[in-house]
Amino acid sequence: MSEIDIWSGFDAAAARDAGARIVDQFAADPDRLARMSVEAAGLYLDLSKQSWTRGGFEACLDLARAAGVEGERARLYAGEAVNNTEGRAVLHPALRAGDDADFHALGEAVSAEVRAVQQAMADYARAVRDGHETGATGKAFRAIVHIGIGGSDLGPRVVWDALKPLEPSIDLRFVANIDPRDMAEALTGLDPETTLVVVVSKTFTTQETLANAEAAKAWLAASLPEAGRDRHFIGVTAAPERAGGFGCGRAFAFRDWVGGRYSLWSAVSLSCVIALGPDVFDGLLSGARAMDDHFVDAPLERNAPVLMALAQIWNVDGLHRPARTVAPYAHGLRRLPAFLQQLEMESNGKRVHRDGATVTRQTCPVVFGEPGTNGQHAFFQQIHQGPQVVPAEFVIVSETLPDAAGAPLWSNALAQGQALMLGKTTEAARAELMAAGSTDAEADRLASHKTFPGNRPSTTIVMDRLTPERLGALLALYEHKTFVEGVIWDINSFDQWGVELGKVLAKAILTDVAAGGPSPDLDPSTAALLGRLMA
Ligand code: F6P
Repeated sequence: MSEIDIWSGFDAAAARDAGARIVDQFAADPDRLARMSVEAAGLYLDLSKQSWTRGGFEACLDLARAAGVEGERARLYAGEAVNNTEGRAVLHPALRAGDDADFHALGEAVSAEVRAVQQAMADYARAVRDGHETGATGKAFRAIVHIGIGGSDLGPRVVWDALKPLEPSIDLRFVANIDPRDMAEALTGLDPETTLVVVVSKTFTTQETLANAEAAKAWLAASLPEAGRDRHFIGVTAAPERAGGFGCGRAFAFRDWVGGRYSLWSAVSLSCVIALGPDVFDGLLSGARAMDDHFVDAPLERNAPVLMALAQIWNVDGLHRPARTVAPYAHGLRRLPAFLQQLEMESNGKRVHRDGATVTRQTCPVVFGEPGTNGQHAFFQQIHQGPQVVPAEFVIVSETLPDAAGAPLWSNALAQGQALMLGKTTEAARAELMAAGSTDAEADRLASHKTFPGNRPSTTIVMDRLTPERLGALLALYEHKTFVEGVIWDINSFDQWGVELGKVLAKAILTDVAAGGPSPDLDPSTAALLGRLMA
């Protein structure tokens, strides 16, 4: 079917639904809540506050069927070259599959190797934790500095923030920024004798990571004997020969069919496996596996990642809403928006289809967010009363600490979803002002300022506690959602050519710096900026 054909029903439904009020749809379709909510892998998702009518919802499902979501899902799991511009399979589900799994990447069996690396990681982590694996001076490791950027940083950071004990036995710190201050802060207070540096880079060519790794190496060299120093320096990479060449005493490998932003299930999370313990990591993998099973088995209309993807596409392409905010109501999930920015915007921020033709519709929206209660006191003003409609996503954890009262936190999330949907009319605002003693003139003057248009969509995701299993399920949910969107938009979600040009130009600018000034072919603005910075 041509692109126009598969989207025509969707477009017609969106045009019909554009003025519909969400709150009225519950009466129009008494089964709405049941139809548009789903439980998967310990997560409860409520998409009934989205802007679709029942007809719009069905049109979205028709679009997913026509776009071939089920067929593409089968190709992904079969290890075909789903990443068509790089000729690679995309097999992150293989990293969290059960013991009897037998995945193949482009025909090559991979599951035995996955299990062997997992076993090696667990053995190494246990040896570090119990003090058998020591540093150059025989002391046990008490701290880890994890160096990596993008997908080699964001996933492990979310995992650590979400699952770390209040008083960790191993202090895990992350360094991503090439700004030396990031490294300086991370190293402050650490003892080289008891510090393990884990350098994570799929390519082992990333400028920021290599610069930081050099800085860490120099820091270790300044106070440790040469013999055994390499035991402080571990590489995690798909290019183990480069890690060895860089001086890593040991390397843990993963394959090129693990995309950077989908890599937290691999050795990329070695630092977390050590600092949290292998059992915690196993829990994370088993939660993701439960979501994988759901994604593969559930029919499209009950499939959590598919419904999440369709809600986004309805907002972006049907109702022309080019942004979405994510508000986790859990301090442990404070880095989730940053993780999703890379996952979604690096995967689906694309302007050409898989065959290279220019897209004719919008693809990935701008994704941004903050922990919910913090966001409420910052940018939520715009979400409630700004002229653009920004769909919201609330991630609620009912109990964030054992025996702590969760209601003051999650009541806010529920209230925000309600307020966005219900709004407040000018008449109601005026009546409130009058009841509070305002004069007629004052009520007239202020009522419009206190009006909330309402009818603003949100999705709510609820989990009982932030366990390894729930976190694994949540992150896998977002991965599959991102994949489904890519299939429907007919784009390759697994390459990232858009980051390349800046890298090349940065190198050229460094060449100019080394040469003492801007090259004559530099544009006037960049040349002036360079001159100023070099002065
Ligand atoms: O530049 C973007 C990117 O390639 C991401 O896709 C990746 O996660 C990140 O850089 C880090 O790359 P690497 O793991 O190879 O250092």
